[in-house]
Amino acid sequence: MKTTIALAMAVLVLSAGSAWARGDAAAGAKKAAEVCAACHGEGGAKPATPDYPILAGQPQDYLEHTLKSYKSGKRKNAIMSGMAAALSKEEIADLAAYFSKQKGLAYKY
Ligand code: HEC
Repeated sequence: MKTTIALAMAVLVLSAGSAWARGDAAAGAKKAAEVCAACHGEGGAKPATPDYPILAGQPQDYLEHTLKSYKSGKRKNAIMSGMAAALSKEEIADLAAYFSKQKGLAYKY
């Protein structure tokens, strides 16, 4: 009985937590597989060439910030400026949530 209550509470806490989390990693995963994986590799972990950066495990804030910078023109790159221009704010948040949760080489805080 006690276990059932504890489990029910855990489920409540977890689902409430995900409702508040920024970015929907599942939606990001879908978009990433369709668009980003061609260059950055599956999960952003194994890029197609060494000059394409690893996105897996990079901090969520950094990923979101840099995608917004490409979109605004603050950071310019022939490839990524076009990619980011096609993304909505919400898609950027979803992608940042997804890639930050992937296992990568970047330092984890
Ligand atoms: C056609 C190849 C290609 C595709 C497709 C692509 N990227 Fe990139 N991406 C690059 C290259 C090349 C760079 C390095 C650009 C630079 O030096 O600014 C880059 C850089 C980035 C960076 C900056 C990484 C860092 O360490 O600063 C992010 C974030 C990023 N891409 C996210 C994405 C996302 C999200 C998608 C899918 C919507 C995507 N990219 C699709 C080629 C690509």
